[in-house]
Amino acid sequence: MDKQQGIAGGLTNYGDRGFALYLRRSFIKSMGYSDELLRRPVVGIASSPSGFNNCHRAMPELVDAVKRGVLAAGGLPIDFPTISLGEVFLNPTSLMFRNLMSMDVEEMIRAQPMDSVVLIGGCDKTVPAQLMGAAAADLPAVQLVTGPMMTSRHNGERLGACTDCRRFWASFRAGKIDQREIDAVEGRLATTAGTCAVMGTASTMACLAEALGMSLPGTAAIPAVHADRLRAAEASGAAAVRLIRQPIRPSQVITAHAVENALRVLLALGGSTNGIIHLTAVAGRLGIPVSLDRLNQLSDSTPVLVDLKPTGEHYMEDFYAAGGMGALLRELRPLLHLDTVSVTGETLGERLDAEAGAWIDHRIVHQLDSPVEPVGGLVALFGSLAPRGAIFKRSAADKNLFEKEGRVVLFRSLEDLSERIDDPQLDVRADDFLVLQNAGPTSGSGMPEAGYLPIPKKLAQAGVKDMVRISDARMSGTAFGTIVLHVSPESAAGGPLALVQGGDRIRLSVKDRRIDLLVDEAELERRRAALPERAAGATRGYAKLYQDHVLQADGGCDFDFLRGNGPAAR
Ligand code: FES
Repeated sequence: MDKQQGIAGGLTNYGDRGFALYLRRSFIKSMGYSDELLRRPVVGIASSPSGFNNCHRAMPELVDAVKRGVLAAGGLPIDFPTISLGEVFLNPTSLMFRNLMSMDVEEMIRAQPMDSVVLIGGCDKTVPAQLMGAAAADLPAVQLVTGPMMTSRHNGERLGACTDCRRFWASFRAGKIDQREIDAVEGRLATTAGTCAVMGTASTMACLAEALGMSLPGTAAIPAVHADRLRAAEASGAAAVRLIRQPIRPSQVITAHAVENALRVLLALGGSTNGIIHLTAVAGRLGIPVSLDRLNQLSDSTPVLVDLKPTGEHYMEDFYAAGGMGALLRELRPLLHLDTVSVTGETLGERLDAEAGAWIDHRIVHQLDSPVEPVGGLVALFGSLAPRGAIFKRSAADKNLFEKEGRVVLFRSLEDLSERIDDPQLDVRADDFLVLQNAGPTSGSGMPEAGYLPIPKKLAQAGVKDMVRISDARMSGTAFGTIVLHVSPESAAGGPLALVQGGDRIRLSVKDRRIDLLVDEAELERRRAALPERAAGATRGYAKLYQDHVLQADGGCDFDFLRGNGPAAR
């Protein structure tokens, strides 16, 4: 082993290297390690359990299993904490802290003595944060996910967080179920360890990590409580030791071809709209651009193949039983770049050759010639309302609303929305467009998952299930509806969305990939001149850093100073 490896790597600076190593060895011996173990290469294990993160409940067991794998393969496993992001416990939003977690991961990988790292994440923003940090640090790394929750039952019906959370809440708002039933449902939606049970953001990012090649083959969809999950953890530890002997760095795995494969997978999954933001941010750390025009080209030639909620009917445990990511990649094979390399050292082509003929449940993973939908789940829209693009999840929307012009019912902020949406006096009809301003990256709201504006109560009670909704916010991966998101530039940055007024008309054309504000240019100029001065925002701390440096959605909402310029720049 190189003397710079293992526990002797990256010594603390005391001006005397011998003293620094002697001191470090002395202190680590206080933890009871033997000299034999201290001579081994070190595999760091970035873990993020927290009492505020239900999705990471099983993480201690995973850490133990990774350690087993590392020890058996001849390495020394040392786990270390990073911050944890529990989706529903963070204010204002978890996205706001994704970049902070990514910096924590990057800097702790760099600062501590390790030769490779296993990253264990699960809940929505944690896997993107870990991939961003690992890509920037560029030390050999293996991503392991906590895995999805199992489903539960309510009155004989299968339930899983969190598409069903929204469906039952909509029924409650519409007066179709009472308080007693919603209370019972509340206790049955999330009943095991793990991440949301549908193709939400966490599951999407788990699948994208495998599609990129950063996770071991076949591990993305294993349920959190399945024994295979522990075996995957053990194997991830062993793989991290192999990566020390035959280094493959994240910059060799996350290439332009790998990113394009991940985009194909995102589209074929009917995956979360957040996936495009996160993939853009991960690729951006390595200087790889993700263009929304390219997304549209890929979307037109990539069918939705996976029948999972919110696009379809099934849950992640069904996807795993159906063959998981291997099944999907085999079906998608003609559309993929087969020369990409994963953390195993194998190319995608070699992996798929080795798996050829393995069983697939085609009720859940459809064949390329009989897809769930003939085109991809996501498209980008452009137009006078969104010059730098907006995202639309066509696989989870009402096709009857795809080509439509409507009158704007405007909400100027999240507070305005919550105050007026259920007002019986609200002037709103089913064919109106609900528009929300000031929920984008620099608005101070942290770009919340508020793009799924609720159907106004009086319309919901009258049976209206979907309306066109437009905002610069995001939407949970578990949500559904005819919803235009990530309008860029956002309204808080003075984008055209800021100029919209109640009663304006907007035209949506999914066919033409257009979203246009039907107001003449002279009037828009007049409104632009009358825009109020932007209020002073945060003055200190992370909120100020975020406000000053966060990029728009088309930059993955990363910080401008964290983006990479390609491997050569590092
Ligand atoms: Fe953690 Fe859904 S709340 S994945």
